[in-house]
Amino acid sequence: MADSTRRRVLITGVSSGLGEALATYYLQRGWYVYGLSRRVPKGLIDDENFRFVSVDLSAFESVVLGIRELIDVKSLDLVILNAGILGSFGDMVDASLETLHEVMDVNLWSNKLIIDFFVQEEIAVQQIVAISSGASTSGARGWNGYGISKAALNMMIKLYAAELPDTHFTALAPGLIDSPMQEDLCSQDNSPHYPTLNRIKSSRNTDAMPQPDKAAKTIAQRISNLPETVKSGEFMDIRKMK
Ligand SMILES: NC(=O)c1ccc[n+]([C@@H]2O[C@H](COP(=O)([O-])OP(=O)(O)OC[C@H]3O[C@@H](n4cnc5c(N)ncnc54)[C@H](OP(=O)(O)O)[C@@H]3O)[C@@H](O)[C@H]2O)c1
Repeated sequence: MADSTRRRVLITGVSSGLGEALATYYLQRGWYVYGLSRRVPKGLIDDENFRFVSVDLSAFESVVLGIRELIDVKSLDLVILNAGILGSFGDMVDASLETLHEVMDVNLWSNKLIIDFFVQEEIAVQQIVAISSGASTSGARGWNGYGISKAALNMMIKLYAAELPDTHFTALAPGLIDSPMQEDLCSQDNSPHYPTLNRIKSSRNTDAMPQPDKAAKTIAQRISNLPETVKSGEFMDIRKMK
C-alpha cells in the first residue's frame, strides 16, 4: 500500500508511449503510481512505489474488477485517463461498426466506469485529466472513430465536472508524441485525401513530435498548472498553454 506521505497518481495505459513515460516521471519524483494496461510495463514493475494490475479496458467486467483490485486507498491526488487506441485510420464510410464500438469502449466508456468507481467507493480525487486529442475538435478526414471518441470524451469530462465540483477535470490534448501509436499512423501511405496525416508524418523526428519521456515532462508540468489556469471541465490543447 502507498505510504501516506507520498502523492498518489493513477495512470491508465502504462505499458508504452505517454502513459509509461508519465509513470516513470512521477516515480522519479517520489510519487506512488497506480498503473493499468493489458501488458505488464517491464521497466516499472519492480519499483516498490508502483502498483499494477493487468486490465483490458474493452472488457467492462475486467475494468470494474481490475480497478477495485488496484486502488487500495481512499484518496488520490491525480488520475490520468491516458489509455487509448486509434482504431482504423480512414474514411467514415469504410469504418466498421465493430471497430467503432471498440474505440468507443476503450477511449470513452471505460473512463466512465473508472470515474464511477471513485464516486461509488467514495474515493476522493483532487484532479482528473483525460488525454484527448486535436482530432476531437478538428473533424479532419480520416480520424473517424478516434475523433468521435475523443470529442465524446471532452463532453463526458465537462458533464462530470458539473456533477463533481470537488474534483478538477480537464480533457487535455497532449500534442504529437513519437509513441507506438504514431508508428501505426506514420506507416500509412501519403494521400491527398488526408492532409493532417501527411503533416504528422513530416513532423516525425522533429521537435514538433518529441519522444515520450520529453513530452511527459512538459505534460506533467502543464497538468500541475491546470487547476489554477483552466476552468474545471474544459478541453485544453497543450500547444495553446504557456
Ligand atoms: N501519440 C500521439 O501523438 C498522441 C496525440 C494525441 C493524443 N494521444 C493520446 O495519448 C494517449 C496515449 O497514447 P500513446 O501515443 O502513448 O499510445 P500507445 O503507445 O499506443 O499507448 C497506449 C496505451 O494504452 C493502453 N491500452 C490500449 N488499449 C487498451 C485496452 N484495451 N486495455 C488497457 N489498456 C489499453 C496500451 O496498453 P496495452 O496495449 O498493454 O493494453 C498502452 O499502454 C492516447 O489516449 C492517445 O489517444 C496521442
